[in-house]
Order: sequence, then structure tokens, then C-alpha cells
Amino acid sequence: MPADLTLTDLARGAAEPADDPQAAAGGLSLPATPTSPVARVKWLAAPSSAAWLEQATAHADLVLIDHAHCERKAAGVALQLMFRYPSDTQLAALLSPLAREELEHFELVLQLLQRRGIPLRPLAAPPYGATLTAAVRRGEPERMLDSFLVAGLIEARSHERMGLLAAHSPDGEFQDLYGALLASEARHFGLYWLLCEQRYGREVTVARLEQLAAVELEGLSGALARPEEVRMHSVGVECAGSGTH
Ligand SMILES: [Fe+2]
Ligand SMILES: [Fe+2]
Repeated sequence: MPADLTLTDLARGAAEPADDPQAAAGGLSLPATPTSPVARVKWLAAPSSAAWLEQATAHADLVLIDHAHCERKAAGVALQLMFRYPSDTQLAALLSPLAREELEHFELVLQLLQRRGIPLRPLAAPPYGATLTAAVRRGEPERMLDSFLVAGLIEARSHERMGLLAAHSPDGEFQDLYGALLASEARHFGLYWLLCEQRYGREVTVARLEQLAAVELEGLSGALARPEEVRMHSVGVECAGSGTH
């Protein structure tokens, strides 16, 4: 990411995150995902596992339905922040376009579901989001920092997994869909990062990100109980020193 990239650039989508969209994670030097086209995933404490990719490609329709819900939720998160901090003009100016973009992604996924005759049905969500939300501190200004970082972590994991699906899905339409979303998803976690850094400073932001990245990793640790429980954020991460979870 260019050093002079600004929040306005990110909000407009004017800046291309290039091949290192997570360079904004500053001093973090966390493991990369070797098989992902997105190198140096610095928000994330560990890459997703081959087991998750295998489950996700085996149940691609389920992941697509879940993906639609995820895009809608990402728009909802941005809107919730705008409602929680209603006088924050900068936040509104940045998150309103982000929410619109997430809804555009939702519509793209919805179109593919409709083309394939797959109904948009409700799916039980994995505990991932609730685990991260529970780690958000309640008092301000910590609540805002944690909320930005949690939103950024979810964007970063989504981006990483969409990158895996874009690269490894046997279905060309899935490759195209996920590949088309990568740049804007990278811009989203870049935007959350810059909001944190601008308001809280790099040192505080990196320290808290390390803690929340550990929570994120814990939320994805373990083995899937049943194949039909696979989701965009279901368990499946590489664990250093003990192989694949
Ligand atoms: Fe999205
Ligand atoms: Fe996003």
C-alpha cells in the first residue's frame, strides 16, 4: 500500500491495494498464507487450513449462500457504527460508501444464486462473529478501537478465504466472483486500519490488534463437526507447530 494513501483515497476506491494490502498492519510480522495469491497476510495470526478450503469447495453452494449473508452483515456493521457515532462526520463519509459497496457485493452474490436456482435461505452462523464481538471492550474510547479492529479482522479473513477460493475453486464462475471482490475487500480492512491508526496511534493499534488477532485465531481453531456446517468463517486454520486443525 502506498505510504501516502489516505482515508479519502480508500473511501473513493482510488487507491489500488496492490499485492500487499495488509502492509498497513505496521510492525506485525505474522505468518503468510503460502498457497494464497495474497502474500503477507499481516492482520491474521495464522492462515486458513487446507481442510477449510477442501470443505468449502466441496460445499460451494452453502458457502455462496453464507457469503451473501456475510456481505449483508458487513454493510450492517458499517451502518451500526454510523448509528452508534451519529455525529462523527468523518466516519459517516467513509463508512457510508463502504456499506453501499458491501450491498453491491451482496447483489452480485444474489445474482449468482438466482442464476443457479439456489434459494437464499437462512443458515446458522458459526460462533466466529459472536466470539469477536464479545472481545470488544465496553467503555469508550476502547470500544471504538476494538470495533474497528474486529471489523477489519473479519474483512481480512474474508479477503484471505475469498483469495483461496478465487485461486482454487474448480468452478470458473466462483473464481470470477471471488476474484472480482478481492481488491475492494482489501481496501475495506485498509480503511479500518487507517481509522485506528489515525485516531489511536500505531503502537496502541498494533498492540490491540495482536490481542484480537489471537481471539480471531481461537475462534477458528478446532475441527468441523459436520461438513454441512462449513461457512465463510467456519473453523479451519493452520496452527504453528501442531499441523492443521
Ligand atoms: Fe464485501
Ligand atoms: Fe468488505
